[in-house]
Amino acid sequence: MHIHKFEKIWLIFGVATLLVFLSVIGVSAFYLGNQPPSCLATINPEQVDTQAPFDKPGLNKVEGKEWDYELVFVASAFNYTPGEVEVPLGAKVKVLATTKDVVHGFNVAGTNINMMLEPGYISEFVTTFDKPGEFLIVCNEYCGAGHHLMSSMIKVVE
Ligand code: CUA
Repeated sequence: MHIHKFEKIWLIFGVATLLVFLSVIGVSAFYLGNQPPSCLATINPEQVDTQAPFDKPGLNKVEGKEWDYELVFVASAFNYTPGEVEVPLGAKVKVLATTKDVVHGFNVAGTNINMMLEPGYISEFVTTFDKPGEFLIVCNEYCGAGHHLMSSMIKVVE
């Protein structure tokens, strides 16, 4: 069978590109240890209120971890618990959030915190709050009739 020279070059280019992409994914996953965000920790969505740390929503000081505080949020249609929270300026914080019912969003305006909250999973994000001010948390996944009313507030104070 005769294959035209350009056809061969194009086929080699296609296969080489595929191998490059697979190597990038392989190195990233197995050597650098990158994983998709969340989906690592699970929780029974019907028992969120009784399971740590979600039995104590809000800011909790922790010892012996890479972060100083854990900021715990529970989402449900159509609100977040807590509805407002104060965080000390400069604190290294692990945000932990989950939902009791349907998929909600967790987007902290003006920061790079943007998580999807799925029933049965715990979403986590480690960050340092180094700008004082009020940061609105909004739901950016359509979750029902009250979706546009769903918000909370992080106040970063000195
Ligand atoms: Cu919760 Cu949209």
